[in-house]
Amino acid sequence: MQEKIKKAAELIKNSRFCIVFSGAGISVESGIPPFRGENGLWNTYDPSFLDISQFMSYPIESWKLVKEIFYDFFGEAKPNKAHQAIAELEKAGFIQKVITQNIDNLHTEAGSKDVLEFHGSSKELVCTNCAARYSKTIVNEQEVPLCNQCHALLKPDFVFFGEAIPEPAGSDSFAAGMKSDVVVVIGTTGEVMPACNIPYYAKQNGAKVIEINPEKSNYTTQITDIFLQGKATEMMERLYHEIIQT
Ligand code: APR
Repeated sequence: MQEKIKKAAELIKNSRFCIVFSGAGISVESGIPPFRGENGLWNTYDPSFLDISQFMSYPIESWKLVKEIFYDFFGEAKPNKAHQAIAELEKAGFIQKVITQNIDNLHTEAGSKDVLEFHGSSKELVCTNCAARYSKTIVNEQEVPLCNQCHALLKPDFVFFGEAIPEPAGSDSFAAGMKSDVVVVIGTTGEVMPACNIPYYAKQNGAKVIEINPEKSNYTTQITDIFLQGKATEMMERLYHEIIQT
């Protein structure tokens, strides 16, 4: 494994435009379960409560689950050493951009500055009618949060199934993928379109792909050049020290 860490560190150190593409797995060691696989949320909850049509039709039931999972349960999660290593590598000039599928805001909280939230963020709520924005603290005040300007339903500012990818995050993410010469893919099954296409486009454009995951993903046998099989915190810490100390 150390040989692979060294090779990955060399790629990153000599890269022109290195990006990170992260998924739920990077936040598992912050206490946030993944969606799929062992302990996956979709093993317990039916993801249909995150369909935008179901949310709008059954707001009471949907908001109960949204609050339970994304605010009560996830709410206290803190960035882990993987998020922190990525922020340090950005500060040192080795990582240019983070594209994340996650809505937990942990990359930003860890200090990463250039973060593209492809699926939005749970940080704020937005009015489904007039687009007014609210702090997430309102979820503790109202069971079904309503806009105090137009009285319409509020929703978390992340992408529900059936909703469009937010702009400019969507276009900027694909542009960064196309510009990158090294992509570090961390903690994602690579199953959800259109986000999962970004590493493929980067590879088609000549990028080298470094993947960190305890399990194989859709990428591993198709486009991964260096597979660092392991947990995000352990692999990112070893990678960080190899880059900074040599
Ligand atoms: N370190 C790194 N990776 C891990 C760890 C860990 N400690 N633990 C689990 N993983 C890996 C799993 O092996 C799996 O490949 O993280 C991945 C989690 O996969 P998913 O739960 O499918 O998460 P993700 O790929 O981000 O899902 C994409 O699906 O439901 C939608 O919008 C949601 O953004 C999400 C999208």
